[in-house]
Amino acid sequence: MTTDCWRMGFHIMPPTGWLNDPNGLCQFHGIYHVFHQYSPDWPAPGAPRGWGHATSRDLIHWEHHGMAIRPDTPDEAQGSYSGCAVRVGTGADEHLRFYYTGNVKEPGDFDYIHTGRRAAQLLIESPDGFELGEKRVLLRNEDYPANCTLHVRDPKVWVDADGTWWMLLGARDVDDCGMVLVLSSADGIAWTVVREIYPCAPFGFMWECPDRIELDGHVYLSCCPQGMAAFPWASGMRDVAGYFPLPEGADLSTFDQAIPAESFRLWDHGFDFYAPQTFTDEQGRTLLIGWMGMPEAPYESAPDNLSWCHCLTVPRVLTRQADGVIAQAPAPELDGLHEQEEALVANDTSVLSGHRHDLVIEGIDDPFSLTLDDELEIVFEDGSLTLRFTARGTASIGAGRTERSCAVENLSDVRVLVDSSAVEVFANGGRIVFATRWFPCADTCIVRLVGSTPSARAWRMGDGMRGTYA
Ligand code: FRU
Repeated sequence: MTTDCWRMGFHIMPPTGWLNDPNGLCQFHGIYHVFHQYSPDWPAPGAPRGWGHATSRDLIHWEHHGMAIRPDTPDEAQGSYSGCAVRVGTGADEHLRFYYTGNVKEPGDFDYIHTGRRAAQLLIESPDGFELGEKRVLLRNEDYPANCTLHVRDPKVWVDADGTWWMLLGARDVDDCGMVLVLSSADGIAWTVVREIYPCAPFGFMWECPDRIELDGHVYLSCCPQGMAAFPWASGMRDVAGYFPLPEGADLSTFDQAIPAESFRLWDHGFDFYAPQTFTDEQGRTLLIGWMGMPEAPYESAPDNLSWCHCLTVPRVLTRQADGVIAQAPAPELDGLHEQEEALVANDTSVLSGHRHDLVIEGIDDPFSLTLDDELEIVFEDGSLTLRFTARGTASIGAGRTERSCAVENLSDVRVLVDSSAVEVFANGGRIVFATRWFPCADTCIVRLVGSTPSARAWRMGDGMRGTYA
């Protein structure tokens, strides 16, 4: 086996180099566009990030087009940072706008929080997602409120039913409190800051990648608070990704209260999930794609000198549950990669060929455990669902990952997508999700399923990326 066996079959990854946040997600005239933070020259030190670009018509076969937005102007010299896409106009005038942050670090002895950094918000218009117009700077640090540090980034833009434009920006204030700026505009060009949204109690020093999600008329603020390690549920991670449900009837354009911090819910309980972005596709579905990586993690994502680092999650369809929880399910298009069905035997061991599988276990009753290669366990025990790299395993398979848990009263179903070096676990209809990288080295996947007569099915998954990364 070579490290090629860790290449993805249905997760977007960089051809070579570094990938982080998904950017500019949209569907335009049938084509899904997924941009992402991209540094093709990684691991060369200091290589600035731009936007890589992948497209698909079916969410399973992707083409990677290399670098789309390059950090090639003085306003983004140290990176064309994260941002979003908006569809505008109608008929022949219909086109896309990309909003993103230009990151500049002045040479010198600076803390790059209060001094030495610039964060501009830029706009690029595009007729089709491929051809990119000229760059325009819309906002600079002097346009943000005086209580902001120089960390203001990651625009998320939407247009409301009245035609008013709205922008969220993630921010760090001078007291090291994370918060979100709300801006409005008549045309999406000239912007005014209208409000700052704070949590009711300090909740991290910086909020990255804010997003507005509307499901069945209910609005959520998604964001990535940094500086969270002291919260017991953060598993010691500095940064986390989750969402706040807004009160009934509220929207981010008018919301003028403090956000109840305790209503925050993690998107994903695994080791590798950050900076998600959502968009509405042409079917009206709300899809989420996250970065399967973390800004600061004590574990490895490119072992054995792998020439590429990180991938994105599969597209996840979001639905609102009666209690306000957002369920996440793999886009049904993934079923299109099912090849032959494989035998998955309960209370026994099944040897599956390769490491691309879709495992669907339903009707679960206590107890339940699913073990992959005797190394990665998904266990329901003591009121928790746990994802664990076992002590039996070779230390290298988890590359430093250990164990993550989420409290859960009952477990009814588990779906596991295994794609070479990525695993995504969806439990209880997608109310609980775990994403993790792993680095198995065998050419079979040995699945041990312990449970009381659950319905268990498994499919070998095809390689949707075969022409893309071969
Ligand atoms: C989140 C983030 C964003 C920023 C981008 C830079 O992972 O730090 O805030 O725009 O990554 O790559």
